[in-house]
Amino acid sequence: MPKFDRDRFISGLPKAELHLHLEGSLEPELMFALAQRNHIAIPFQTIEEVRAAYSFSNLQDFLDIYYQGASVLQVEQDFYDLTMAYLRHVASDACRHVEVFFDPQTHTDRGIDIGVVIGGISRALADGQTQLGISSKLILCFLRHLDEAAAFATLRAAEPYLDKIFGVGLDSSEVGHPPSKFARVFEAARNKGLHLFAHAGEEGPPEYVWEALDVLKIDRIDHGNRALEDKALVERIVQNGLTLTVCPLSNLSLCVVDNLANHPLRTMLNLGLKATINSDDPAYFGGYLNANWRAIAEALNLTKEELVTLAHNSFAGSYLTQAEKQTHHDAIDAWAARF
Ligand code: HPA
Ligand code: ZN
Repeated sequence: MPKFDRDRFISGLPKAELHLHLEGSLEPELMFALAQRNHIAIPFQTIEEVRAAYSFSNLQDFLDIYYQGASVLQVEQDFYDLTMAYLRHVASDACRHVEVFFDPQTHTDRGIDIGVVIGGISRALADGQTQLGISSKLILCFLRHLDEAAAFATLRAAEPYLDKIFGVGLDSSEVGHPPSKFARVFEAARNKGLHLFAHAGEEGPPEYVWEALDVLKIDRIDHGNRALEDKALVERIVQNGLTLTVCPLSNLSLCVVDNLANHPLRTMLNLGLKATINSDDPAYFGGYLNANWRAIAEALNLTKEELVTLAHNSFAGSYLTQAEKQTHHDAIDAWAARF
């Protein structure tokens, strides 16, 4: 019996990415190019200096640098180039579908029109479908460290572009900014027919995950690691069949876990949680989708069956139609049958 080549198996395994911040895919090379193109000063001279600054001990350390990096994004073409560069990366990871976040307030607070941001991103997503065969959905995230009024203003500003927006999410500094702070904005978004997502239980306590479920009534949980501290919460998530978008290299970079060997991904699967593998902010955390798959598979010695389950989970947890999902499930099974 030939040895199972796990890396090769992962390389060709059809998969979806459900937790990706487009601003978090801004590579230092593109940051420099855009800084030059747009005459924006950045506090780095070399790519090595940028990389050296990417050493974080918690979420806030990261966010400070991430918001600073986004300042080079100025015009529609910049948002297009950012998005297209991400899609090209994951096209080579056998990624067939993405549901991606963007943070409009990071840009509108610098005087950039939300239409410029959405225009560039959605033009690249359309080209991603036609040129790379990657389907997509776009999710507008509210920055939770800002107030409810700012989130409402963002939802209003997005109104003319809602045909391009699939849902809303909640990101940025979690602790001290519970989901309930945005109860009314999420209700308004739901009334506009948008799907609801929220980061919860990355650094925040299990109570924040309860609030995301009970108060915001979200459709999928981003991260959710700390839900494991509460047995009743785990039962609730399993019963509701909610997907968790887990981000291994992000968890390692932001010290949510001290070591990937201690990552709870397998525990989540064994508890019946629909966990998925995602990259979060690949330019900052050391790798795109397959880098996350390979790192966690290696650290936990994931079996072929577990990898197949995770691939199925990535499409099952997406918002593709049942028919589209079935095509991908069949492709996963066909790839698995070749090994
Ligand atoms: N958590 C919260 N906010 C974020 C993240 C994250 O992992 N990435 C980008 N914004
Ligand atoms: Zn995230």
